[in-house]
Amino acid sequence: MSSSLTVSAGSSLIGTVRVPGDKSISHRAVMLGGLAVGTTQIEGLLEGEDVLATAAAFRQLGADVTRHQDGAWTVTGVGLGGLREPEDILDMGNSGTAARLLLGILAGHPIRCMMTGDASLRSRPMGRVTDPLTAMGARIETRDGGRLPLMIQGADMVLPITYELPVPSAQVKSAVLLAGLMARGETAVIESVATRDHTERMLTHFGGKVSREALADGGSRIAVAGEPELTAADILVPADPSSAAFPLVAALLVPGSEVHLPNIGMNPTRIGLIKTLLEMGADIVVENERVAGGEPVADLIARHSTLHGIEVPPERAASMIDEYPILCIAASQAEGTTRMQGVSELRVKESDRIAVMATGLRANGVTVTEGEDWMQVEGRPGDVAGGAKVATHLDHRIAMSFFVLGLVTKKPVTIDDAAPIRTSFPNFLDLMAALNSGRKG
Ligand code: S3P
Repeated sequence: MSSSLTVSAGSSLIGTVRVPGDKSISHRAVMLGGLAVGTTQIEGLLEGEDVLATAAAFRQLGADVTRHQDGAWTVTGVGLGGLREPEDILDMGNSGTAARLLLGILAGHPIRCMMTGDASLRSRPMGRVTDPLTAMGARIETRDGGRLPLMIQGADMVLPITYELPVPSAQVKSAVLLAGLMARGETAVIESVATRDHTERMLTHFGGKVSREALADGGSRIAVAGEPELTAADILVPADPSSAAFPLVAALLVPGSEVHLPNIGMNPTRIGLIKTLLEMGADIVVENERVAGGEPVADLIARHSTLHGIEVPPERAASMIDEYPILCIAASQAEGTTRMQGVSELRVKESDRIAVMATGLRANGVTVTEGEDWMQVEGRPGDVAGGAKVATHLDHRIAMSFFVLGLVTKKPVTIDDAAPIRTSFPNFLDLMAALNSGRKG
């Protein structure tokens, strides 16, 4: 059910935000737990709708996925190759990660499955995974244009391949590597820029054999050995840096704010936004850097800052691909111009994020120019009119970005539908409200 929400500027944001678990790591914890032998205990699992879709699919496929208390889940796996044919369609909701990684896993199981998703997911390209998975032996019939719904018949015998990623995508890399688990021999993926490596880290944690080789041209070759013994392993999920981005940028923009964000995932393939904001002049302190559950984490403190526009280089895009919408909001409050390049992947996310951000910002009085793979925002610090209603197109990050804009505009900003926020950050509105009451108390 859609629900509109109007956000008005208030005074400073003060307090601590306990951001929920990382979405990428949560999906992979359920998936690898579901394939391993034994029971995996997960702490800090994100209980957003995207991850719940993965959990539901793995139950349909025969794994035991149980919630014990907030964020504490167990997954008892079926063993590699042991998934059973589901009786009904697998509905991956809004989640591209759930759909694409699961397709990789299903490609290596000789069962037949139907898969669908919501209107946003049904419009997103699946050819980027169905092409390599077909080369590995799966038979896949999609709707026109390589879209969901689709039928997949996994291969009896998976062929190991070496696949050069045509787009920098951790989802595609992961789908091929996961299918490669069921192949006899080594499956490799070549990437020209580093994309998030949670699949590789977690596979190693479960006993898989993963290697990474640096290539002369600056890229990498990542390989998995087929038919490993995957054994249940406990997982501690760090807080999601992509979710932390919203209260973090809100603190930078709202005068007088100071927000503490403990235990944030600091995987080097995910921290492009923090680098970018620091270059823009943000007051962000990174403390207590440590490794927890195989992933780097740190505690962050963000304070109100005077920002200036910068050029965000294209090679940084993969490490902050989900953060461009909220960066656009920060840019609207920065002195000068912020230019973002090499961002064509934004056009095939939960919405066309270049077009949707540009439309929403323009409606609220910000000048934005865009091209196929770039966008540019002209900042108006403290001087953005607001007052318009923004269409969120089933995109959680668009909804949360314009929520943050509403905290600093002259007139309130209305989001047509706040319901998608539940896909990745179910308690976002409560946590933001608590920061506001923090300042009053
Ligand atoms: C994800 C990878 C990214 C990101 C998505 C999560 C993942 O997609 O946008 O939110 O968990 O692997 P691409 O790898 O396709 O860019």
